[in-house]
Amino acid sequence: MTHRPARRARRASASPLFTPHGADRASRKAARRQLAEAEAKARAEAVAHPDGTAQVEPEMPPPLYPPHGRPGPGSARGGRLKLPQHRMTTAVAAGAYPFLAEGGLGADGVYIGRDVHAEASFTFDPFTLYGRVEGFTNPNVLLAGVIGQGKSALAKSFALRSIAHGYRVYVPCDPKGEWTPVASALGGTSIALGPGLPGRLNPLDAAPRPYSVSEADWAGEIRKRRLLLLGSLARTVLGRDLLPMEHTALDVALDAVVTQATAFPRTPLLGDIAAALNHPDQLDAAAGLMSGRLGEAARDLAHAMRRLVHGDLAGMFDAPSTVAFDPTSPMLTIDLSRLGGSGDDTALVLAMTCASAWMESALMDPNGGRRWIVYDEAWRLMRHPGLLQRMQSQWKLSRGLGIANLMVIHRLSDLLTAGDAGSKGRALAEGLLADCSTRIVYRQETDQLHAAAALLGLTTVESEAIAHLNRGRGLWKVAGRSFIVQHLLHPHELSLFDTDARMH
Ligand SMILES: Nc1ncnc2c1ncn2[C@@H]1O[C@H](COP(=O)(O)OP(=O)(O)OP(=O)(O)O)[C@@H](O)[C@H]1O
Ligand SMILES: [Mg+2]
Repeated sequence: MTHRPARRARRASASPLFTPHGADRASRKAARRQLAEAEAKARAEAVAHPDGTAQVEPEMPPPLYPPHGRPGPGSARGGRLKLPQHRMTTAVAAGAYPFLAEGGLGADGVYIGRDVHAEASFTFDPFTLYGRVEGFTNPNVLLAGVIGQGKSALAKSFALRSIAHGYRVYVPCDPKGEWTPVASALGGTSIALGPGLPGRLNPLDAAPRPYSVSEADWAGEIRKRRLLLLGSLARTVLGRDLLPMEHTALDVALDAVVTQATAFPRTPLLGDIAAALNHPDQLDAAAGLMSGRLGEAARDLAHAMRRLVHGDLAGMFDAPSTVAFDPTSPMLTIDLSRLGGSGDDTALVLAMTCASAWMESALMDPNGGRRWIVYDEAWRLMRHPGLLQRMQSQWKLSRGLGIANLMVIHRLSDLLTAGDAGSKGRALAEGLLADCSTRIVYRQETDQLHAAAALLGLTTVESEAIAHLNRGRGLWKVAGRSFIVQHLLHPHELSLFDTDARMH
């Protein structure tokens, strides 16, 4: 601490003249003299133009209140309000002061609406924030809220506005068919799947090899994806984890089918896998010198696969695809609204698995640009660990491929329905949540607040807030920072996204 003469102390509230450290006495003196000259010149000019014509300052609107503050008793002046003196650190003051607003995430990105506390525009783009905001480790987004609060509307306007920024949007499963009008309005495509419809998807389709990947690596990647898909289909139908021998059986059956199909050449089908699993002798022969009878062990698997080939999903996923994946289309959605009406949503879940596997394998090109994958109504998937596992591996790939996943659920506790505490399903669901740097919470029922607060680490003020949010308004937690954002819709968007039409 240096001793300051009294003459300097008088200047404490004005901006002092800055002289660099280490400047010698003569140059400090010269700088002071120059400042004094400049001040004298400015004063002389002001006198020369007493009417203020020389001033270039723009005209400001008149102040709302006179300089002594707001008049009347509401001003809390007049000596009636007496508060005891209180001292605190600035850190405590920041916590105690109620009128704090976030500075925002910057102006880059897609316009969402209004930041309610800061009264400012709110924009968001996970690709821009990645690497710029501390703790923003991935582009994935979780969106939770009770029915009819505008979750899908947010996802759709996000899609629509992102397309204007050159992004592409993929909706691998649209169980309500509400994305089809959006896709057609934006020049995208929709594929409708269901009994009696002509659309077919072969989930074992191999995506074209990206230039940057070697042939051997690509073959390995496709094999891995196909195995993951077959595993999750089998797990969903069986309702349990696969046994080690069942894993081997799937492996062996897939290799045998792929070898046969390449000889023709044609793309393998799920029906081929089911047939291979149904021939124990051939499986045993293909397995070679492996201990145990593989054919016997694959019995349950064979029945599980049969459901996809001959059961309620017959034909839909067991034929060559009727559509080719078009990487230049701005939007692609798969309409599954004709499925799963019977209450048992296994058919829908199996269809979702096949449809998303088909789409995700087509999105493997790391040069495909920035893309959004929207899992609307993802809460339906939560009870199926097989699906969660597939989603998680997709999530992990997102950064490398330039893909942001958006998962829409109703309640945060949907994540807890994936299994008991400590179970694999629960761990997978919690892993998915951890892999979402952005969490958007729309209104939650009061009995859900506890789960939401615990899972997202909300403060009491935040959990109180999410119980009272109105339509289109949500708490955005972006890498630990919080915003209350009102999503604003253009009238065209409003009419395009209207899901209430049947209620009116
Ligand atoms: N920000 C908004 N401003 C005005 N209206 C909105 C807004 N967001 C949504 N809406 C309207 O609310 C209705 C319901 O929205 P939406 O279908 O997106 O809800 P949701 O949360 O997806 O419901 P569900 O859980 O049933 O899928 C729509 O008709 C939509 O037009
Ligand atoms: Mg919705």
